[in-house]
Amino acid sequence: MGVEALFEPRSIAVIGASEKPGKIGYAIMKNLIEYGYEGKIYAVNVKGVEIKIGNRVFKSYKSILDVPDEVDMAVIVVPAKFVPQVVDECGKKGVKVLPIITSGFGELGEEGKKVEEQIVETAHKYGMRILGPNIFGVVYTPNKINATFGPTDVMPGSLALISQSGALGIALMGWTILEKVGLSAVVSIGNKSDIDDADLLEYFKKDDNTKAILIYMEGVTDGRKFMETAKEVSKKKPIITIKAGRSERGAKAAASHTGSLAGADKIYDAAFKQSGVLRALTIGEAFDWARTLGNLPEPEGENVVILTNGGGIGVMATDAAEEEGLHLYDNLEELKVFANYMPPFGSYKNPVDLTGMAGAESYEGAIKAALEHPEMHSIAVLYCQTAVLDPRDLAKVVIREYNESGRKKPLVVAIVGGIEAKEAIDILNEKGIPAYPEPERAIKALSALYRWSRWKNKQKSE
Ligand code: COA
Repeated sequence: MGVEALFEPRSIAVIGASEKPGKIGYAIMKNLIEYGYEGKIYAVNVKGVEIKIGNRVFKSYKSILDVPDEVDMAVIVVPAKFVPQVVDECGKKGVKVLPIITSGFGELGEEGKKVEEQIVETAHKYGMRILGPNIFGVVYTPNKINATFGPTDVMPGSLALISQSGALGIALMGWTILEKVGLSAVVSIGNKSDIDDADLLEYFKKDDNTKAILIYMEGVTDGRKFMETAKEVSKKKPIITIKAGRSERGAKAAASHTGSLAGADKIYDAAFKQSGVLRALTIGEAFDWARTLGNLPEPEGENVVILTNGGGIGVMATDAAEEEGLHLYDNLEELKVFANYMPPFGSYKNPVDLTGMAGAESYEGAIKAALEHPEMHSIAVLYCQTAVLDPRDLAKVVIREYNESGRKKPLVVAIVGGIEAKEAIDILNEKGIPAYPEPERAIKALSALYRWSRWKNKQKSE
């Protein structure tokens, strides 16, 4: 209980709200307002000063106890030494959940850890939950909540991002905006004194706005709880993780960063595999997979068809598919349908080469045929930019055909080229069709979807 209040609060207080631009207590107020939170926002500041943000002026309360209304979530941005008292007051007030931005607790060592434990004890006495401390906040796009000091304009979508690292998490928020990755939530989890990955997974499992979950983690405190929860959640929604601290020295760095025990990496690896969690090794890989897993339906079979206008990228995609264990559909009788959309020197063998002459009509016909064919289960559309077809026009064709087909099969896109290719990729990603600048990345993302789907089906049959 209490975790829901992070995402569905009816009112939010910022304790340590500040009128001074450049302070975290100011940035959080500003983000809450600018991202359009529609519930009530209360500023708490010990000096009782007025807080002006843009054209809004907030009266501030000297204590949360003075707020004349119920408060579901209180974001704490006061120095560490004041946090225990503020937590106690929040408990008296009946607040449900406390994201504590403040640093200077468990990550400093034993002394700080003790204070952290006391704070959690106080919170639990009142039935409150704590997120953090040592965090950058929480975002939930369906309810227009941005209670962070990160970027304001997070793109709404279906991926929930959980980050144990603060600075990296903030940077990733910015990166998702640039790369058009739509997010349902961003949760900075910091020292995990109370709310942990498993608690959040439970919430996202039930959350209709979230289709996939990406976790940046350095370590878990309760490994069994994480594994059991992750396994249950993976049966419904894919979880991707980047687990840092793989090397011995990296593990030591993780211990001093968020105070977590990184543990033997092989144990993590085995645990992830058993619980259906997909482990990515880099940020790029994690988000590549997340785009596909967060947007596409599961495949209904193993047959993959590659449509391309360039033999070269077709071959590269085929190599990647073979390496990833994907099955390229090779029933020539059925593949012949593609001959209708290519010149006589094209090749309808999979990878289907529509040739460098392929224009919008070729792609339109071939994509439609692949989407309609019952034995073609997944499609990779590849395009090398030529003067024959503007990649942005190809993007429009893909969006139209995929939407008209009811988005029932996985379809990934790779467009190699210049500035127009990048624009086309952005257009597709904004519409929830995973698009990449390299064929291998599209294929590997499709392969991640297959791995998860196969794991899930195996669980059903066991
Ligand atoms: N109740 C209400 N308001 C209080 C208060 C209390 N008990 N104690 C202080 N305040 C007010 C202050 O008056 C100040 O408001 P002002 O700007 O109008 O003067 C505001 O709260 C903040 O307090 P201040 O002492 O100025 O602290 P700060 O803003 O310099 O730093 C933190 C506060 C929490 C940001 C800082 O201690 C910290 O932990 N920084 C690290 C945060 C971080 O990196 N987190 C992890 C990210 S991943």
